[in-house]
Amino acid sequence: MPSRTSKVVRLISTGWTSLAKTTKSPVELMEEALTSATKSIGIGFNDIGGLIAVPSLADPHFMEAHYVATHMGILPAKNVVVRTVDTGGAGPVTALLAAKRMVEYEGVDCVAVVAGDAVRQLSGEEFLKRADQTCYHPASGLPSPVIPSGYDRVARYQMDKYGVSRAELAACSAVMSIMASQHPLAMTKVPRTIEEVLASPPVASVTNLLECARRADGGAALLVASPRFLERKGIPSSTGSVIIGGGEASGPLYPPQLDQINEDMFSCEQATKIAYQEANVSVRDIDFFGLYDCYPVCLIRAVEAVGLADQGEGGRYILSKYHELVANPEKRPQDILPINTHGGLLAFGAPWEVPAMYNIIEAFHQITNTAGTRQIPNVRRALVYGNGGIFSHSAVAILGNGI
Ligand code: CAA
Repeated sequence: MPSRTSKVVRLISTGWTSLAKTTKSPVELMEEALTSATKSIGIGFNDIGGLIAVPSLADPHFMEAHYVATHMGILPAKNVVVRTVDTGGAGPVTALLAAKRMVEYEGVDCVAVVAGDAVRQLSGEEFLKRADQTCYHPASGLPSPVIPSGYDRVARYQMDKYGVSRAELAACSAVMSIMASQHPLAMTKVPRTIEEVLASPPVASVTNLLECARRADGGAALLVASPRFLERKGIPSSTGSVIIGGGEASGPLYPPQLDQINEDMFSCEQATKIAYQEANVSVRDIDFFGLYDCYPVCLIRAVEAVGLADQGEGGRYILSKYHELVANPEKRPQDILPINTHGGLLAFGAPWEVPAMYNIIEAFHQITNTAGTRQIPNVRRALVYGNGGIFSHSAVAILGNGI
């Protein structure tokens, strides 16, 4: 019988690139990020026994993980297994949970998770052409831009059903910009107000430009390993954080017509419930939340799903936090709101399927006490949530400090 400690799977290192517009390809960004993750822990690509990649929009490849592993020289090799996972923006969290399972049940000792994209490189027109195709279905009735229009439809549902106000939606973007302005790598350097968000160009009926995920280039990598691997490489057994639980659930590719939307299309609640159960924790045990926020309604529903606000109260929760942040400039933002201390998709930056990596990396920094000026005191556990498509997939993972 394997002992309980042999089942402990750790996220041992992370790496990333700048988010600035670049001429590098997605696979080059993934390689740069993975090089940074391996170097910082003192291992090489030849120590990697498994690789999971999420696909890119700017330069997609058949069997992305095989393409990436071949490009990086990880393949050919004996006893290396690679997989592509595609759950859209939930991909990095799905991949983190898949890496955990590879270590637990498939005998792989060290798994790399990589994601990278270069959607800022694409012209606005080309980006839209590709993005529109991803969630398009003739029955959806969603006009271009399809993704903002889909989230806009859900935002209107949330307004009609729960009385969410336009200011509450805009507050999500303003709050994320306050968080991002503390992070050296964030694209958004200056906080914005609700008024500025509401004055930005309209993209759909209740969605303005500053309420859209911020298009970016960037790569990120994670390393997930077994205790045996750490011992073999002489790496301290307490390195990084423990992946203590996770859950996933799916919704439709696109939202039904407005008058037909109901709670059945959403999956974050179910994914979170499974994750809490597996980790044997509740919302009170979580000290940092990395929540997907591609559009305001996604963040509003996420704070409800994880239990920070009651159902229907997420908008009021975020707006009250905005007022508290603005009224108390002497306080550190993370002492008011333990969510997305990096600024999320709305303000940190969103290279297509990469951004949930940043939720995981920020959680890693918070748990390992390396978040610098953004540090939340005594983080024992963190929750990360990735969302794919238009509420089409939810993946939630819980990380712990192992104590
Ligand atoms: N904060 C600050 N600035 C922003 C911003 C934000 N959130 N969003 C856009 N901007 C800025 C851009 O940086 C740009 O400024 P610069 O020219 O100075 O760089 C300016 O606003 C115009 O932006 P675009 O060039 O993107 O404008 P466009 O007219 O070509 O397109 C748009 C507008 C259709 C809204 C496009 O920006 C868009 O589609 N954005 C949303 C991207 C998106 O949906 N990503 C996926 C989210 S869903 C998800 O993550 C799930 C999944 O499965 C992938």
